[in-house]
Order: sequence, then structure tokens, then C-alpha cells
Amino acid sequence: MTEPLRGKTVLVTGGTGGIGKQTARGLARLGARVLVVGRDPGRARKAVEELRRDTGNDQVDSLTADVTHRRDLHHLADQVKDRHGTLDVLINNAGVTMARRELTEDGVETAFAANVLAPYILIHRLLPALTRATPARVVNITGGVPRGRIDLDNLQGERSYVGLSFYNQTKLALMAMSYTFAERLRGSGVNLNVAYPGHAYTSMNQSLTIDAYPPAARPIVPLLRLLMPVLYGQRALVKASRSSIYLASSPHAADLHGTYINSKCQRTPWPTAVLDQRNRDAIWTLCEKLAS
Ligand SMILES: NC(=O)c1ccc[n+]([C@@H]2O[C@H](COP(=O)([O-])OP(=O)(O)OC[C@H]3O[C@@H](n4cnc5c(N)ncnc54)[C@H](OP(=O)(O)O)[C@@H]3O)[C@@H](O)[C@H]2O)c1
Repeated sequence: MTEPLRGKTVLVTGGTGGIGKQTARGLARLGARVLVVGRDPGRARKAVEELRRDTGNDQVDSLTADVTHRRDLHHLADQVKDRHGTLDVLINNAGVTMARRELTEDGVETAFAANVLAPYILIHRLLPALTRATPARVVNITGGVPRGRIDLDNLQGERSYVGLSFYNQTKLALMAMSYTFAERLRGSGVNLNVAYPGHAYTSMNQSLTIDAYPPAARPIVPLLRLLMPVLYGQRALVKASRSSIYLASSPHAADLHGTYINSKCQRTPWPTAVLDQRNRDAIWTLCEKLAS
């Protein structure tokens, strides 16, 4: 078997479960040294054992961090720099949906902290390690429905909060932040792209309570709960890892930068809300403020 990623170091946030673990499995099979990140040391250890066993790659390791905590992100980046020096691929996969608005210990709305601010901070903090590894790649994982608007008066759910609708907005905000970051990284040798994975029945949607859904969708939630495991089981999980594995490893993706791809690895137009410069500027400014 060829191992195109032998000698490359890849970090996958949310790599101890769900789509991220499947992505880590795919990259370990390609020979990469894979660092999976989760919050819980026990779950992380089990994920490492499973991934090593499944892939025969003993260069899978774990790091523990809660991506909603700024100090954890700083510590995570320091550990990567100290232990590995260089980083070839960063996959910002961990994502969060909340039923109710909650603030993190840093005073940031939790879904915004995980889905937008954490990728922003990690890319910044890991940029020296990525730059040392050029050509390097950053992959940000989006989700939700790539339509709708970004409400600049409600970026942290200050005015209204319905979990899934707000999650959708955070993913648009992640894409807007990614678009700006890609513009800033152009020519640096660090390519940044966004992947949409497609649906999979994971702990994210298993743990959603009914109040996270928009009121109009609540009557069909019991039916969704019956259908999701059937429609979006293990095969869907494998499919959902493809777009991130493609951006992280494929020679065909080597020159991609500042693009958004769908679950079939096809280039897709950026959502209108992301193309709006006012949205991009406001989100970048907010990330700058919250990161410091
Ligand atoms: N599932 C879908 O249908 C779907 C559809 C579109 C897009 N997406 C996107 O795909 C990505 C992965 O989704 P998923 O469904 O695989 O999610 P998931 O099942 O909830 O992901 C679980 C993984 O995320 C980690 N995680 C969760 N919260 C964390 C935190 N605060 N800090 C650090 N790690 C954390 C978990 O670590 P622990 O070991 O600590 O639990 C575990 O490794 C997300 O960005 C999501 O928005 C998912």
C-alpha cells in the first residue's frame, strides 16, 4: 500500500469521535502521523488505541483540549510546537450545537467559540509550525445550510437564540472568517480551504434536544430521530470524512486555496452571506477582539 502522507503531521480537532475520528482513520491509513484532539483523556486514549489497531499506524496520538477555552487552545498549540515543531495539516473539525445560549469561561457564546473563534485562534497560533512545513494545508469544516443571512447584531446570539439556526449562522461566520484568512495567507505556502462533510448520525445530532430545533420543525423531530440512524449510519460517516481527507491529502487539492467544496469534493460557490464584505469585516474584527 502506498503511504502518500508518510512523514507528514496532521492535527484533527474533534478527532476522538464522529466524523473527525473517521477522518483521522483515513489519514492514518495514508501513513500520516495523526494527532487527534478531544476534551476527555479517557476517550482520547480509547480513540488512539482503536485507530492504531484499525490502521496499523502506531503514529496516532492524542492531545487534550476543550476548543471552547482560549487557554486550552494556547496550550494545545504550544504542545504541537514543542513536540513536533512543524505541522503539515490542520483540520478544524470540532463543532458544537447548543440548545440554549451559554457563555464559556472566557465570556464568549459557546457555539461561536467552538465553530468560529477556535479555528481562528488555532490557525494563528499554529501558523509558525505550518509555515515551517510549507506547503501546508488548513481545512475548516462547515455545516448547516449554506443559505440565510448573518445577523451582525446577533453574532453571539445576544438578541435571539434557536440552537440549530444559530449553529447555521456560526458556520456561515466560520466560512466568512476562512475566506478572509485565505486572502491573508495567499502566497504564504499555507493553503486554506473549507469542506462540507454531509450528514452523519453522530453525538452532535444524537444529543440535540427538541428546543434546539426551530419551532416549525419540532413536530417532525420524533420522526427525524427514527430516520437519522437508518439514513445516516456508518456508511454516511465514511462518506462525510471524504471532503476533509481530500483537501488534506489529495495531490489534486494541492493548489486549492480559498475554496469551498461540497461533500462530493466539488468546488462550490461561496454563500452570498460570505461574499458580503461587511459581514467578513465584522466577523474578523470580532474574532480579533475575542482572541486577545
Ligand atoms: N454530523 C453531521 O451531520 C454534520 C453535518 C454537517 C457538518 N458537520 C460538522 O462536522 C464536524 C464534526 O461533526 P460531528 O457530527 O462528527 O460532531 P461530533 O460527533 O459531536 O464530534 C465529536 C468530536 O468532537 C469533539 N468535541 C466536541 N466538543 C468539543 C470541544 N468543546 N472541544 C474539543 N473537542 C470537542 C469530541 O471530543 P470528546 O472526545 O471530548 O467528546 C469528539 O472528538 C463539525 O464541525 C460539524 O459541525 C456535521
